[in-house]
Amino acid sequence: MVTANSIDDLLKATSTLKGSVGFVPTMGALHEGHLSLIRRARDENDSVVVSIFVNPTQFLEGEDLEAYPRKEEADAKICELAGVDVLFMPTIDTMYGKDELKITAPAIRGFILEGTKRAGHFDGMLQIVMKLLNLIAYNKPSNFNAYFGKKDAQQLVLITQMVKNYFINVNIVPCDVVRDSDGLALSSRNIYLSKEERVRALSLSRSLKRATELVMQKEFSSSTIIEEMKKVLSEVEVEYVALVNREFEQIDRVELGNTIILVAARVGTTRLIDNLWI
Ligand code: PAF
Repeated sequence: MVTANSIDDLLKATSTLKGSVGFVPTMGALHEGHLSLIRRARDENDSVVVSIFVNPTQFLEGEDLEAYPRKEEADAKICELAGVDVLFMPTIDTMYGKDELKITAPAIRGFILEGTKRAGHFDGMLQIVMKLLNLIAYNKPSNFNAYFGKKDAQQLVLITQMVKNYFINVNIVPCDVVRDSDGLALSSRNIYLSKEERVRALSLSRSLKRATELVMQKEFSSSTIIEEMKKVLSEVEVEYVALVNREFEQIDRVELGNTIILVAARVGTTRLIDNLWI
C-alpha cells in the first residue's frame, strides 16, 4: 500500500493503477461500516483507493471538529490489511487554498432535514467530495466507482445529483447500512455514547423496525408511521422522523421500492441518524 499525503504523491501513485478503481472516501476512525465499503470496492475493482480526511468545511460552528476521533495509525493498518492500494491522507492546506470557490447544496433537497438542522454542512461535504472525485478521476481509470453508505442517505442523494449536474465521470455505488448485532447503525460517533446512552440509542433502529412492521401490515400513511415511531423514541431527543422518496421529497404515503424512512435524534450530547430504504 502506498500512503500519499500530497497531491503530487497521490497522482503519482494513481497513475500506476491498472484497470478499474474503487474509491472509498472517509473521515477516518474506521469501523466495520467503512470496512464493508472497502471490501466491496476490493471485490468489484482492480484497484482500491481510500481517503482519510476530517473535512473542516462540513463541520458547523460548535460541532465536534476538534474532538472528532482521529486514529490515523490504526486506520492505515486496517487499510493495509484490507488490501487497499493507495491511502490518501492529506492535510487541510493540501485540500484548501484561500478564498475558495464554493458549492451550494440544491435549494430544496439540500435544505430540508439534515440541511435545516446542519445548515452549511452539505455545502462543505459536496465541496470536498467534488475535489476528491476529481483527484481520483485525474489519471482516467478505465472504470471509476465511488462507494458511499446509505446511512447518510441525504448525503448520498446529493452526491449523486452533483455527479449528474457537474458531469463527473464516476459511478456512485450506494452500500447498505451496517449494524452492530444489537441493531445500532455503525457510526464513528458511537464511541461518544456512555453505556446507558448506548442502550437508549437502540430506540432509533427499534423505531425503524416498528415502521417495517407497520408497512408489512399495509399501514402506508406517513403520519401514522411517524406517530408510532415517535412512541418508540420516547427516551431520546427526536430531531426529526420523516418519510421521503428517493428524490428526497416528503411523501404522505409509503411508495414501496421508492421510500426512505429517516430518523435523527440526540442521545445525551451525541447526534445520531438512521434510516430504512423500502
Ligand atoms: O461520510 C463521510 O464520512 C464524509 O461526509 C465524506 C463523504 C468522507 C466527505 O468528507
